[in-house]
Amino acid sequence: MAILLPGGAGYIGSHTAVELLNAGKEVIIVDNFSNSKPEVLDKIKEITGKDFKFYELDYLDKEKLEKVFEENKIEAVLNFAGFKAVGESVQKPLEYYHNNITGCLILLETMRKYNVKKFIFSSSATVYGEPERIPLTEDCKTGGTTNPYGTSKLFIEQILKDLYKSDNTWDICILRYFNPVGSHESGLIGEEPQGVPNNLMPYVARVAAGTLKELSVFGDDYDTPDGTGVRDYIHVVDLAKGHVCALNKLYKEQKGLFIYNLGTGKGYSVLDMVKAFEKATGRKVPYKIAPRREGDIATCYADPKKAKDELGWVATKTLEDMCMDSWNYIEKSM
Ligand code: WQD
Repeated sequence: MAILLPGGAGYIGSHTAVELLNAGKEVIIVDNFSNSKPEVLDKIKEITGKDFKFYELDYLDKEKLEKVFEENKIEAVLNFAGFKAVGESVQKPLEYYHNNITGCLILLETMRKYNVKKFIFSSSATVYGEPERIPLTEDCKTGGTTNPYGTSKLFIEQILKDLYKSDNTWDICILRYFNPVGSHESGLIGEEPQGVPNNLMPYVARVAAGTLKELSVFGDDYDTPDGTGVRDYIHVVDLAKGHVCALNKLYKEQKGLFIYNLGTGKGYSVLDMVKAFEKATGRKVPYKIAPRREGDIATCYADPKKAKDELGWVATKTLEDMCMDSWNYIEKSM
């Protein structure tokens, strides 16, 4: 019985594929390489020493997707497919809603047709909008997302809740990621943003490498200890392991629809991250203070207790690991 990973060649999907293979699971990846590269598949095999099936297809292509379910015995699906660039989603709302929501609907319909009813969904802390309180617990109010990317995550969460209400033989786990950073310690897989990165850590790493001139720190007048934005950065390998724990739970005693924050519970500012990166790598990260970025909030970090209590999962990698591994990947790919 196999675990299907749509979007499994992407940043979080590829790291999760590694952890699933290491845990002895059978994995099938489907991907259309819209934001990833075919080489990633060989890298996953190199890291794990294990083989897996791969189908090159767009998950919006119902016929091709059905063939995957026909040809294999699939027992669970972890959905990593979807567009994720916040700024681009504002420019291309229809493309984002179509790809993220229609794609997910086609996937769920296909799963239902083949009676596969274990589903793990990659959601985001962005569904909390302006946080009701800090640290964020899973029962904090959601909504007030400021871009179509975030809204697509919120809508899919609602779709999953409605689906479960209509048929409680589904087992669904919604994982709300905080800020994933870093890469596998081998430096073989990592984040590959197309063009100029939007997210902080990939940008910082490229400034350190000299491919970008300086970092713009978006605002130093927030109500935070040093005035810059505070986030919960989580090592992507910790995040990937969270999926293995969630999957194990869905197999064992847990039945129903569950939501977990995947974060460390610690908040670091933009300047904390710059300093940590410089310290861990010995490289300089020149920066300037720039105006606030629209849609940003001051502070966002998780209360990860529910995942600890119910999944037995805690993030163990340090800030230094996150910085070292981000840098390691950039250095190796230069
Ligand atoms: C972090 C901090 C910025 C870039 C977004 C999405 C979220 C998730 C992760 C997933 C903020 C500051 C950033 C820069 C800066 N998406 N910053 N200069 O905005 O918390 O979350 O990415 O796919 O859904 O909303 O992450 O890394 O963009 O920003 O000063 O050049 O760094 O203002 O305080 P964010 P980020």
